Amino acid sequence: MRVPVDMSQRSLVVCAVILVVIASQIFWVGQIRKAAASLIPRSGWRRRASIAGWACYLLLLAYNILPPLLEGFLSRNSTLATARSASPPHTTLGAVLFRAHLWGWMRGGPNLEPTHLTLPAALLQAPYQWWMFCSVLGFLIAVLFGSADRIARAARWLYHKVLQAGRAVPLHNPVSLARRRFLERSALAVTTAPFVAGAYGMFYERLNLEISHQGIKIPRLPRAFEGFRIVQLSDIHIGPFMTAKEILRYVGIANGLKPDLVALTGDFVTWDPSTQFPVVDVLAGIKAPFGLYGCLGNHEMWAKVEDSITQLFALRGIRILRSEQVLIRSGGEAINLLGVDYQSRSPMGPRNQRLVREYLEGVDRLMVPGTANILLSHNPNTFDRAAEYGIDLSLAGHTHGGQVTLEFISPDLSPSRLITPYVRGWFKKPGGQLYVNRGIGTIGVPIRFDAPPEITVYELVRS
Ligand SMILES: [Fe+2]
Repeated sequence: MRVPVDMSQRSLVVCAVILVVIASQIFWVGQIRKAAASLIPRSGWRRRASIAGWACYLLLLAYNILPPLLEGFLSRNSTLATARSASPPHTTLGAVLFRAHLWGWMRGGPNLEPTHLTLPAALLQAPYQWWMFCSVLGFLIAVLFGSADRIARAARWLYHKVLQAGRAVPLHNPVSLARRRFLERSALAVTTAPFVAGAYGMFYERLNLEISHQGIKIPRLPRAFEGFRIVQLSDIHIGPFMTAKEILRYVGIANGLKPDLVALTGDFVTWDPSTQFPVVDVLAGIKAPFGLYGCLGNHEMWAKVEDSITQLFALRGIRILRSEQVLIRSGGEAINLLGVDYQSRSPMGPRNQRLVREYLEGVDRLMVPGTANILLSHNPNTFDRAAEYGIDLSLAGHTHGGQVTLEFISPDLSPSRLITPYVRGWFKKPGGQLYVNRGIGTIGVPIRFDAPPEITVYELVRS
């Protein structure tokens, strides 16, 4: 069942996003021209720099937007030709532009080598994604900063008007030139900060793997599993910025952690169905005496590879649990491992209490009483239902820990809060506990900030 989406609302959002993107580009062109005027005094050099800058900018746009734009127009025309009845809103010109821009931003230009970092990906795709993401963010900060400044100035003006009332002599203007300069410099520093933070997140934090160790108490854990080690990898997102070679490095790290069992919690691919082959090949290099098990994520669903990637994994001895369970046996005892496909009733999986009630339908039939039940579920929003069922431990991913967040300032400053309260780390409630792994790969932009990639090692204990 699909939740109906209000198309007029969607069109409004699309228009708003397009306007913000265009406004941000105009804003930054103005800022760069202003900076160039003060940094390059000679007009001849300034003109040459301007031509070079525009050439680079247009090249990035052409490489990243034109192919998906053409694709969008072609699919629009074919849709209109085959279904003339009522043009759905997603085929409007604005929607095509939006999709082309978004698609170009996320996927870049034509990636002939989708699992290798090619020169065009490094020189044309990554700078474009970095620029678009950081320029829009910087622009929004500038709008906020400017609005706050204008409100403060209006309040000050009003205050002095009130004080002046009844006096013959006007009051001295309290806004000093030095203060204004300080405010301008602060605004410049704040609006350009996303570019610096974005570069840091792209070149350093995105690759700065953190290995988290998490003790998990499960009173029902059989004695034979005391100290059992599960290593979790999630959200691989193989692509030009998470190459097969890079994943091989994580495979080596996972093997070095000496896991008893490995849990792979979905989003192996991003968009390209052909990337399922290399990602399965590389992940098959992980070794664990009790085996490798996994579940599927939303990107397997979107790339339409759910069945094929499950078969590929099976051929390499890795079992993807799709509303299935398996008993992991040791010393005459067993724990129960369950897995489900991506659980959501809407594309992005917003957390809605009515929808949450529908998650994990029939999972109670997969549970085994009297032992530890461990669930692999890509979407952490299944936790509420899992705890109601009494599933001892849920392992999830999906959020990337927010990927680009300011959680060090406030836990609310994370985009993932829009879809779940379970963004990262360990959670407990009556009936069960959950760990949300931040994943390894990235989506949208190859940037991580305040959310480094993670491999988690769980050590199960009875008490
Ligand atoms: Fe993901």
